[in-house]
Amino acid sequence: MLLGTNGSGKSTLLRLLAGLLQPQSGEIQVKQPIGFVFQNPDHQLVMPTVGADVAFGLVAERLPPQAVRQRVEEALLAVNLLALQRRPIYALSGGQKQRVAIAGAIARHCEVLLLDEPTALLDPDSQLDLVAQVQKLVKSRGLTALWVTHRLGELDYCDGAFLLDKGCVVDQGDPARLKQRIMQVEDLSGAAPT
Ligand SMILES: Nc1ncnc2c1ncn2[C@@H]1O[C@H](COP(=O)(O)OP(=O)(O)OP(=O)(O)O)[C@@H](O)[C@H]1O
Ligand SMILES: [Mg+2]
Repeated sequence: MLLGTNGSGKSTLLRLLAGLLQPQSGEIQVKQPIGFVFQNPDHQLVMPTVGADVAFGLVAERLPPQAVRQRVEEALLAVNLLALQRRPIYALSGGQKQRVAIAGAIARHCEVLLLDEPTALLDPDSQLDLVAQVQKLVKSRGLTALWVTHRLGELDYCDGAFLLDKGCVVDQGDPARLKQRIMQVEDLSGAAPT
């Protein structure tokens, strides 16, 4: 997980990793393909139904229809949404929409999943469901997930954490220790922990 105050460079780092921004100097090495999950799923789901949206990401791969169907079903099964394959996107909850976005990445057989505050618009229950879901995918499919969050409770689900400040990593390692450090700073500044 990637933490840091507003403007510390978290989204910029994810965009660089995803190739949406080009670095002015230096070199970035990252496994391909990459999946990107935005804070607001309405900014990335483009097709009318769940199944069509997951299939849409496969268009560039020019697979035969049977292979597309198989990839879509496998991906929806992985995020527990197979039963909703024909459901219109507008009829989904926020958490379900985020899982459709993740299924899109799984269908493309992504090695790396970048998630930029994917729980920011979710209620607390859906929030922890989504974190647990990604944790399960990391364990079962060997995915690497890099997750940006402001919610310290989500740190309990990650294997390691980085703290950014002004574009630099200022601390990294054990999530419990980082959580403690950030909570102390928030206590001193009077900010409410999230
Ligand atoms: N394409 C860009 N070119 C130059 N500066 C940028 C660009 N995109 C963002 N910035 C600046 O880089 C800094 C880091 O922004 P970024 O969006 O990465 O922060 P963040 O850590 O994701 O913050 P937040 O928690 O508010 O989402 C900000 O000062 C921002 O204005
Ligand atoms: Mg950001």
